[in-house]
Amino acid sequence: MSSLLVTGIGELVTNDPQAGPGPLGILRDAALVAEDGQVAWVGPASAAPAADAVLDAAGRATVPGFVDSHSHLVFAGDRAAEFEARMSGRAYAAGGIRTTVAATRAAGDEQLAAGAARLAAEMLRQGTTTIEVKSGYGLTVADERRSLAVAQGLTPETTFLGAHVVPAEYAGDVAGYVDLVTGPMLAACAPYARWIDVFVEDGAFDAEAARAVLAAGTAAGLGARVHASQLGPGPGPVLAAEAGAASADHCTHLTGTDVDALRGAGVVATLLPAAEFSTRSPYPDARALLDAGGTVALATDCNPGTSYTTSMPFVIALAVREMRMTPAEALHAATAGGAAALRRPDVGILRPGARADVALLDAPSFVHLAYRPGVPLVSAVVRAGRHVV
Ligand code: NIG
Ligand code: FE
Repeated sequence: MSSLLVTGIGELVTNDPQAGPGPLGILRDAALVAEDGQVAWVGPASAAPAADAVLDAAGRATVPGFVDSHSHLVFAGDRAAEFEARMSGRAYAAGGIRTTVAATRAAGDEQLAAGAARLAAEMLRQGTTTIEVKSGYGLTVADERRSLAVAQGLTPETTFLGAHVVPAEYAGDVAGYVDLVTGPMLAACAPYARWIDVFVEDGAFDAEAARAVLAAGTAAGLGARVHASQLGPGPGPVLAAEAGAASADHCTHLTGTDVDALRGAGVVATLLPAAEFSTRSPYPDARALLDAGGTVALATDCNPGTSYTTSMPFVIALAVREMRMTPAEALHAATAGGAAALRRPDVGILRPGARADVALLDAPSFVHLAYRPGVPLVSAVVRAGRHVV
């Protein structure tokens, strides 16, 4: 048994509407006690029970640890040259993924694990306490399996993305590659994965192929998620709804039908505005989703092609400035929204029984996450009741 009291919290965002006003459930002059990894008590600092150790927030704002529900951390090399060319006017296309596939296949196991661990540590330092990690840069049975083994060393939220793009050796034989993904590759990867994902896009997979991938994955016991309508409108969102997916991700080009389908099927729309930032593309219409009553998550999409950032505060700032989300909506989407996208009722909320994951901000209010973009405001992080940063 070990307990930690975080006290002197000027503003505590709980995301528990029963704890305080609004969806963020904000308490002032608050404290929180963590015991055996879980929240044991939340309330006014003046009434806080004693604990084995004390962390004094000294008036700082404290928020639930961020839930980054979409990342591609397992890869080798980078694509700085591609980014530089893009910033000089070249457009982004799905085919760039093959550059990273070649580098990833050539890398040793230790190099892959070290690269992913470095990025996961960057995330933690910036307040992210739950991460999802995808495969998708191996695209052979052995390389997808080892990518997922690396991912599993970092998080239980691992996603098999063998259907990221058709690799060069299967050019002209999409059906043959889909057979590999849904057959031997899935069999080798399913033991390491909780989720299956497919990139539904021109230059990646069409509706028929995506349906086959999602059906095989769900039959193998994996939950569905979809890379949907990133580069143009397409069948991804409706497929996600049909498949009972937890989340449709990107959603940059949604139609009204897509918005209705997602909301009707209870599919979370995970928006990844750092990808639009880094590809100089129009942002998703977050307001259409929120105003229709849909659930929105925000995540980094950290990957070397379209979004080489690990920073949830940066994503929150983009969501507020560029997608017209309010600061409260953006924080909720980056915490409780991500938890919904991963179907994890134990994270993204601070109430007794939930995992004790908090980020202390060097600021009096969570609003500063968007108000002070680019400033490293996260000054301490508690994950599962342990003071880790
Ligand atoms: O989510 N959209 C597909 N996958 C990544 C990009 C991968 C890459 O360009 O390497 C994404 O943006
Ligand atoms: Fe992605």
